[in-house]
Amino acid sequence: MELDVLNAVLKPKSIAVIGASATPGKIGYTVVDNLVTSQYEGAVYPINPGASEILGFKAYPSILEVPGEVDMAVFTIPAKLVLNAIEECGKKGVKGLVVITSGFGEVGKTDLEREMVEIAHRYGMRILGPNIVGVLSNSMKMNASFAPTLPLPGKGALVSQSGALLIAIDMSTFTRRVGFDKLVSIGNMSDIEFADLIEWFDQDDDTTSISLYIEGLKNGRKFMEVSQKATKPIIALKSGVSAHGAAAAASHTGSLAGAAKVYGAAFEQAGVIQASDLNNLFDRSLALSLQPPMNGENLLIITNGGGVGVLATDAAERYGIPLKFAPEDVQAELKKHMPEFGSAKNPADLTGQASAEWYENSVRNSFAHPWVDGLTVLYCEVAVTDPMDVAVGIKRAIDESGVKGKPLTVSFVGGEKTEAAMQWLVEQGIPAYDDPDSAVNAMAALREYALMREHDATFTKADTSSAKEKAMKIIAAARADGRDALTEIEAKKVFEAYGLPVPKCDLAATEAEAIQMANTIGYPIVMKIVSPEILHKSDAGGVKVNIKNAEECRQAFNTIMENARNYNPAANLHGVVIQEMAPWGTEVILGSINDPTFGPTVMFGLGGIFVEVLKDVTFRVAPISEKRANVMVNEIKSAPILKGVRGEEPKDRAALAKTIANYSNMVFDLIDEVSESDANPVIVYEEGQGVSVVDARMILKK
Ligand code: ACO
Repeated sequence: MELDVLNAVLKPKSIAVIGASATPGKIGYTVVDNLVTSQYEGAVYPINPGASEILGFKAYPSILEVPGEVDMAVFTIPAKLVLNAIEECGKKGVKGLVVITSGFGEVGKTDLEREMVEIAHRYGMRILGPNIVGVLSNSMKMNASFAPTLPLPGKGALVSQSGALLIAIDMSTFTRRVGFDKLVSIGNMSDIEFADLIEWFDQDDDTTSISLYIEGLKNGRKFMEVSQKATKPIIALKSGVSAHGAAAAASHTGSLAGAAKVYGAAFEQAGVIQASDLNNLFDRSLALSLQPPMNGENLLIITNGGGVGVLATDAAERYGIPLKFAPEDVQAELKKHMPEFGSAKNPADLTGQASAEWYENSVRNSFAHPWVDGLTVLYCEVAVTDPMDVAVGIKRAIDESGVKGKPLTVSFVGGEKTEAAMQWLVEQGIPAYDDPDSAVNAMAALREYALMREHDATFTKADTSSAKEKAMKIIAAARADGRDALTEIEAKKVFEAYGLPVPKCDLAATEAEAIQMANTIGYPIVMKIVSPEILHKSDAGGVKVNIKNAEECRQAFNTIMENARNYNPAANLHGVVIQEMAPWGTEVILGSINDPTFGPTVMFGLGGIFVEVLKDVTFRVAPISEKRANVMVNEIKSAPILKGVRGEEPKDRAALAKTIANYSNMVFDLIDEVSESDANPVIVYEEGQGVSVVDARMILKK
């Protein structure tokens, strides 16, 4: 049903332009003119109270006077007139509204924007915009916008949150030779948002990939859900990556988060491929709209130039698909199509005298070989070989190889003739780039897509309802006590309920209790003050470690209590935690934030200097599987320390991944109650020895 309604703005059979004008230069004129120029085949109804005819179409004073059905209404009247006109559209039975008009939420008029959506929804209409350029579709021959022309035809769709950028992209499709079937300006997203369009494009036969320029999402979770389900590649360029809200964030994790890292994590989890800049968005969109994913890690490069071969080799490593030498049989076959002094390794260098025929034969044979998961062909313009002949040879070889489901990218470096050859290749469905780096980066996008699709397709969160029940009781008790933070021991009980390995611990209110608990837990022990008013326990002289016997325990209890009283005479002292002393290992940190866009989010990093100075941390939107937690463990820069370097034993990364996954379940379950939590430090031992959450903190929502 929802998708049907979106047909009204993406595949309308009839369009009314409310505010159509006969005056050239006005947006209301340009939209009608664009519908004419793009040869839109549906009915066009200009609406203007003072005109009888506009650009050859009969004009109507009101939409209510239009004789036929109207699927979509494009608004080019000033903001103050919009509400009334929407009401009339509702009465007329219009289905979709494309509101080009500015002057709503973007200038603080959020009430006006809300009212507009309310009226539209009352009539079952959906709104694209306001504050947009419009909608352009090659397959519909529809330029319902004030952008100059339809883009160069292509197979992908692109949605932009910036109108000006959409126009710029539109025009540059011709110079970049990267076409799109549809361009959609999404503006203020008062109603239709990215998630709606992704869903629609995913089922649209004229769309093979979905490119997004995102400034900010309104509903991050919905975006993730829809993207995860999508069967077509999604490529996103996210702008505004400065650490928003970081300064305001009180906690460690908050200040380390920032939009870029959390968006990056959410994209990875949702299977959305990222673009680093506008050029990269074009490069990656082209490849993903034309080629299948790269389902293995073996990339073969064929070249006629050593220089571009080395550049491509460097790029392959940089973008995560490092080259390997091709197997003997692949090399033997390649050697048949190169001179004695060529190289059949990888890159396969056919040398500068390579003919179009050598290219064709080496591509034909290698592309079909099972070792090759993806092929990048490089060509430098030389006088002995015509670029178009090489292009035609490559295309013929690919077709004749009969191989489907393997990707190919091409880079031709040279002058006008290579430009023409590349344009021809793109028209044949082969992404071609004017530098080797882009061709390899595009292949890397196809590899990323394959990896993302493999990942966690079946993950569902474990049932943690009994852990949640225990946690809620502890939280309720703290709230009843008038507190908005759990004590360390309470936090550890919550962590424990979620399967996080905390050291044995108990709270002693008296010296006698302390000794009895210490005897039960077993020495050595650590003792720490418990007081809601004393957060920095060490500063207060409230921590004693390596207590070896009952006498030391008695002394430590009294010293800690006295130090705490002196430090803050008004503090409410609950007693002293008696805790099993965890042996030392590698320190890591887990933290959580409630991200404004994606909600509960977990952070992982190495502790100590790594987190303080290097900010070597990574994020994921909760909950996550152990598999994904394992990716977090292995993707931080200091991961080699956990893998074991310089004779050090590898650390228990499996136990760590399990702990992170359990922690993410806790963060997800308790998001309505807990504003922040951390486990800092968590000690990781050698493989098979597990981890220990030595300190736990949990701040409740006010
Ligand atoms: N129904 C239909 N037509 C009407 C009505 C009505 N109720 N009332 C007035 N009109 C007619 C007007 O008479 C006029 O036609 P005319 O030229 O024959 O007189 C026409 O509608 C347009 O109205 P104007 O008052 O002339 O409005 P104008 O064209 O100056 O501006 C516009 C309207 C373009 C919507 C403006 O308010 C606006 O929002 N501009 C910004 C749009 C924009 O940039 N959006 C994208 C942002 S992204 C980016 O930056 C690229």
